Amino acid sequence: MNDTRRSVLDALDDGPVTGPDLAERLGVSRAAIWKHVEALREDGFEIASRDDGYELESVPEFGGPAVEYGLEAPFDVEYHESVPSTNAVARDLADDGASDVVVLADEQTGGRGRLDREWSSPSGGVWLSIVLRPDLPPARVPVITLAAAVAITDAAREAGVDAEIKWPNDVLVGERKLAGILTEMEGEADRVSWVIPGLGINANVDAEELPEGATSIQAEVGVIERRLFVQRLLERFDELRSDPEAVLDAWRERASTLGRDVRVETPDGVVEGEAIDVELPGTLLVETDDGVVRVHAGDCEHL
Ligand code: BTN
Repeated sequence: MNDTRRSVLDALDDGPVTGPDLAERLGVSRAAIWKHVEALREDGFEIASRDDGYELESVPEFGGPAVEYGLEAPFDVEYHESVPSTNAVARDLADDGASDVVVLADEQTGGRGRLDREWSSPSGGVWLSIVLRPDLPPARVPVITLAAAVAITDAAREAGVDAEIKWPNDVLVGERKLAGILTEMEGEADRVSWVIPGLGINANVDAEELPEGATSIQAEVGVIERRLFVQRLLERFDELRSDPEAVLDAWRERASTLGRDVRVETPDGVVEGEAIDVELPGTLLVETDDGVVRVHAGDCEHL
């Protein structure tokens, strides 16, 4: 959203203001104010126009401008009602040089999960991908996924959902999956060019529309205002993304995996034992009969 449009919204939120007053305050023409008001109405903002001036009456439940309005984190939000996959859209933006852009969708028709699985993404969810250009070597990228898992968990808890993290990056309620993260990246050996964490959160979705073993925020606590949920999530992610130690501490505090017996299918075979800790950039330490094994990637099952 451009700065003038944001200023128009801020002014309208404070009470009725006439077009000429607003034009003077913002240093633009009355015609420009009228155009901004019309554009905001098209975006779903309800703006009353009375004798005493314009006033903001309601903000849309979801969408790019709705999320950007009041967002205290430096992201632009590109919204789509329906796309095959927000990660695919985000990759194209990254290839064109974008940074700190969030691709957000109400529905995905070809959502993808880890290990090339399908990711069911009906309308009502929060499906989003963040284009980032961090100054990081590829080996440290997993910490971004951990930060995203913490951010989802905190936003879900704020909505009243009893969410916890399962290594490496699933957000669960009990043993039912609420959210998952698929992180993609491109770069050289010593520095990434871009990283895209793709976050899928079953928000205002009926659990019957989801695969077995999944849950949604709606099923747990009822329908939420997704605009506010996404704002909290992005703000938390922004706080954490440059502080790997804080990410790790926060991740440990929210993890349901630590202290549990686990079975992890890794590319090098199965590791079974007690999950005792996680260390940067996201390595799971499993105490097995043969000693502590460090697991960098894999599919983890709580036993
Ligand atoms: C997992 O397998 O747990 C990861 C699921 C990641 C799904 C999200 S939804 C937004 C983004 N777009 C996709 O196609 N996938 C990710």
